[in-house]
Amino acid sequence: MKLHLVKSHNVENHISDNVKTLPPSGIREFFDIVYNTPDCISLGVGEPDFVTPWRISDSGIYAIKDGNTHYTSNRGLLELRQAIASHIKKNHGIEYNPETQVLITIGVSEGLDIALRSIVNPGDEIIYFEPCYVSYAATIKLAYGKAVTIATHFKDGFAIDIDAVKKAITSKTKAIMLNYPSNPTGASISKENLEAIAAIAIANNLIVISDEIYDAITYNGEHVSIISIPGMAERTIYLNGFSKAYAMTGWRLGYACGPEPIISAMNKIHQYTALCAPSIAQYAALEALQRGQRDVASMRSQYLKRRNFITARLNEMGLPCLPPKGAFYAFPDISSTGLSSREFALKLLKSHKVAVVPGTAFGNSYDNHIRCAYATSMEQLKEAMDRMEDFVNGL
Ligand SMILES: Cc1ncc(COP(=O)(O)O)c(C=O)c1O
Repeated sequence: MKLHLVKSHNVENHISDNVKTLPPSGIREFFDIVYNTPDCISLGVGEPDFVTPWRISDSGIYAIKDGNTHYTSNRGLLELRQAIASHIKKNHGIEYNPETQVLITIGVSEGLDIALRSIVNPGDEIIYFEPCYVSYAATIKLAYGKAVTIATHFKDGFAIDIDAVKKAITSKTKAIMLNYPSNPTGASISKENLEAIAAIAIANNLIVISDEIYDAITYNGEHVSIISIPGMAERTIYLNGFSKAYAMTGWRLGYACGPEPIISAMNKIHQYTALCAPSIAQYAALEALQRGQRDVASMRSQYLKRRNFITARLNEMGLPCLPPKGAFYAFPDISSTGLSSREFALKLLKSHKVAVVPGTAFGNSYDNHIRCAYATSMEQLKEAMDRMEDFVNGL
């Protein structure tokens, strides 16, 4: 057979304008360098270093052995939706109907995408807070929405300025997006601020999209969800998933809970574009919810030790860093180095083989920050901090 190479000329013009103008992820460029740098310690990737707890993986293996390898219902296994509803009821006192108000998604990523596409008409404004997860701006753009960003600042512990939110509301505002504990700052939100956001959402008839993927990795006290504020479960799309808490990033499983009409609208998109979430992962997730809580607690205690260590070391080397209240990211201020966040990350990577992510990946105004993920072993973390200290001292 004669091999035929696929050429790509003349097709660029067919790419949609919306996709053509989508900026590339600020994180990918670094990962490409990391993969090509031997002996590099990566504090770049936002995923647990732990392997999925064996009992969870075993349930996935049994699902395969038992032949549970077919499509499930579009909304996901009812048993899993019931387990999710009980989990939320126990944690937040909110009762979702598993038949109509819970949808199993392909990670929170799909949840975000179909939540936005379900509610956004072209030009609708979505408010969210920077610095934030790299996908928010892109997902809003792909839904033909308009991103309205509100900055939060190191000096305020990255807390939301409620007056700024009030000022940002227009007749086009459709929703407010929240992500607490936050990627990349590790900040959480106070009950007062949740109540203030709730009051704004109710007064202006807005939807809240709450991405709580890091809720189980909360260090000081309990995580409070906006759905537990009176009147908010009725107007919130609650998103969560298994990637972070259960170290299941590759299983690709998440869920969305909310009012029936919105979950039905999301399911409408989901049934055409995804059909259902992976069946094997759904069986594993059921085990995770039913018997995985000790594993979650054990991983959380490891993250806490690492958090205390990395925060102390960063501050000692002159890179002020707030102690993260949740998730597994430190977001130190690097102003003292005089470098831009990109210069810092590139130089550190080239000279000391430690990968961090420039702050600008999470919002243009965060050039004086870097993100260090501490989802890596204590041994690696110690070595990474020694190398970073040497790098900073040598500047
Ligand atoms: C804030 C936030 N939301 C959503 C996601 C995507 O999660 P999933 O693996 O469930 O798609 C991530 C992944 O890093 C994240 O940090």
